[in-house]
Amino acid sequence: MAEADMPEPMIQVRDLHHSYADGAEVVEVLHGIDLQVERGQFVAVMGPSGCGKTTLLHILGLITRPTRAARLRLDGVETTGLGDGARTELRNGQIGMVFQRFNLLPVLSAVDNVKLPLRIRGQSLNGEAESMLEMVGLGAERHRKPGKLSTGQQQRVAIARAMVVGPKLLLADEPTGNLDSENADAILELLTRCHREFGQTIVMVTHDRGVAERADAVLAMKDGRFREC
Ligand SMILES: Nc1ncnc2c1ncn2[C@@H]1O[C@H](COP(=O)(O)OP(=O)(O)OP(=O)(O)O)[C@@H](O)[C@H]1O
Ligand SMILES: [Mg+2]
Repeated sequence: MAEADMPEPMIQVRDLHHSYADGAEVVEVLHGIDLQVERGQFVAVMGPSGCGKTTLLHILGLITRPTRAARLRLDGVETTGLGDGARTELRNGQIGMVFQRFNLLPVLSAVDNVKLPLRIRGQSLNGEAESMLEMVGLGAERHRKPGKLSTGQQQRVAIARAMVVGPKLLLADEPTGNLDSENADAILELLTRCHREFGQTIVMVTHDRGVAERADAVLAMKDGRFREC
């Protein structure tokens, strides 16, 4: 295939840096990340606590603006110069995010949390939120608020919310980190099925080697850079 006809990668990152201000000190967390994820690829990101995995995922999810990046292309769009409105539009339209701390709205029931991304997109509600909760094994708990759910149940609501719109790109931050092995297997099966059947691109942070083995590629992060593994 001629290069011009090749599909654009889903993610192209070049020389990405990110720093946080810590009082008067500036701490650089990401030190020049290069990353390419093809469409339909399932990539696992591993690395020690504090090495910058969540920071990277939030940057890829257009939640955090990187301090500096030579390139940050998502779904064929260069995002480095985009304003807040265009970033939000791209995020709402294409990206599903499972946050490490879930970020569920405490005043809404499980099912209303899952409905949120559908409402934001202005889509009519035809029972997708209910079926998604059934799929993660929480049909019976759908009217409970997050405070009345276990940690693993909250994690599954967060997964249902990220998946409900069928995002092209799913970014998942330790999505099985709080689950027992049976539930973790069921969630992984759901993710890999979406990946297989709908060609969804997945970037998943995990500490679990067994989980990472299900991915097409494993990237090891250390001290804010990827190293070979
Ligand atoms: N908002 C913030 N302000 C200042 N420093 C931060 C902030 N968020 C993260 N950090 C620091 O940046 C570094 C990377 O944090 P990050 O959450 O990306 O790590 P992680 O790899 O996801 O870790 P874990 O496996 O524990 O979730 C850490 O040293 C952390 O203390
Ligand atoms: Mg993290």
